[in-house]
Amino acid sequence: MKRFLKRRDIIKTGAMLPLAPALLSACDGSAGTTNAFYDDGVYLSGNFKPVDVESTLTELEVIGTIPQELTGRFLRNGPNPLGKTDTDSYHWFTGDGMVHGLRLDNGKADWYRNRWVRSESVIEALNESVDGRDLGFGPNTNVIGHGGRTWAIVESGSRPIELSYTLDTVGQNPGWGGYTAHPKIDPDTGELHAISYDWGNYRDHVKYTVMDVNANLIKTVDIPLPGMPMLHDMSLTKNYIVLFDLPVTVSFLALGTGASFPFRWNDEHEARVGVMPRNGTGKDIVWSSISQNYAYHPMNAYEDENGQIVIDICRYEKMFAADTNGPFGDALPRLDRWTINPKGGKVSEQIIDERAQEFPRCHPDLNSKPYQYGYVLAVGNQSFPSIYKQDVKSGTSTEFNFGPGRHGAEPNFIPKQSAQSEDDGYLMTFVYDEQRKASELIILDALDLSRPALAQIKLPVRVPYGFHGNWVPDTDVS
Ligand SMILES: [Fe+2]
Repeated sequence: MKRFLKRRDIIKTGAMLPLAPALLSACDGSAGTTNAFYDDGVYLSGNFKPVDVESTLTELEVIGTIPQELTGRFLRNGPNPLGKTDTDSYHWFTGDGMVHGLRLDNGKADWYRNRWVRSESVIEALNESVDGRDLGFGPNTNVIGHGGRTWAIVESGSRPIELSYTLDTVGQNPGWGGYTAHPKIDPDTGELHAISYDWGNYRDHVKYTVMDVNANLIKTVDIPLPGMPMLHDMSLTKNYIVLFDLPVTVSFLALGTGASFPFRWNDEHEARVGVMPRNGTGKDIVWSSISQNYAYHPMNAYEDENGQIVIDICRYEKMFAADTNGPFGDALPRLDRWTINPKGGKVSEQIIDERAQEFPRCHPDLNSKPYQYGYVLAVGNQSFPSIYKQDVKSGTSTEFNFGPGRHGAEPNFIPKQSAQSEDDGYLMTFVYDEQRKASELIILDALDLSRPALAQIKLPVRVPYGFHGNWVPDTDVS
């Protein structure tokens, strides 16, 4: 039986604080009790715990000064399971998607909204009507602006779901087909390149697609890939796409025991990296072996002056071996540099930074190109205490620490309009404050992480730990 949930709570900031306990109590399902399912599981407790209401908040408290040139929405997607969730079997990657958005307007914080991405099950749980919309799974992993529209996307091969400017679900775009959470934008053309599962051929194929600037599919290439590996991300360079065929694969044993998330560590599956010319086919892929590992996210990739492909990437020693509920229980990721000869041979692996770190980003205009700076979230023991700014040319780094009991999320870099250097811009991320039991959006000066935050936009609600998002300026919205 689904938990009772309020369909929509429209809340002004001033009214939120006294109302919050009553609202949350009502939404826990039975008065006077807590939901035990959220108390025990690592990926359901603390700030992993989902929120129970959708809010629209205005009149937000701001400390500092919001740069006037930032007019648009900071959007972030993540899992927020709706209804009763079993601690033992819940996997962090499977929760219903919820998009959080904070709109800035000419130096002001305009609004904060959070909305479940409507799927068939979310619609049912909220007792809403489909209203003619074409809905499937609710993408929970990333939210992007593309073609003047807003899209929630996920790795699972599900179709993207279009959201309105105010984050309500519009519906699926059938033209995209099954997609991924991590398309790579070509900064010169604006096209999106992606590696996606192709469920009809997934036993031994995936697909490479290109989406034009108007969000139309313009290219599909079938790629032979046996073994059903988990492909979370890809890399793009000037002339190549790169596939990561790593030893986390579909486990029929897990499927047979009813696991909601079927991927497990598989030492029998040899790790390799595939390089395909952008205009090539599956036959043109050159595979290179690499040590057994798993990696979700490259910081960036490019071709160096010798034609070698350089990829900076967060690498785990093992994944989903002992911890089958989320990514952090087997090992924590370090930052590596992989150098690949596109003609083949073993991948050269170097450690850039042994400290644990995830969710790397770089300057958006330098995706697929040589670069100097990356920004990445430090990962501790169930904590996300800092942003590291990595200078991958010099091998040095600086750090912004969020403070005691405060935890960040993926850092997004937004270049200044008048930028004089690669790192002349802003970093934005949501920060959770344990003491307030609430979150805020912080804006940092990426040039100098020793400076205090330029602005903190305080919310009276939590933004649970999640995955990925983007700054979508209003100029990119049609
Ligand atoms: Fe990801």
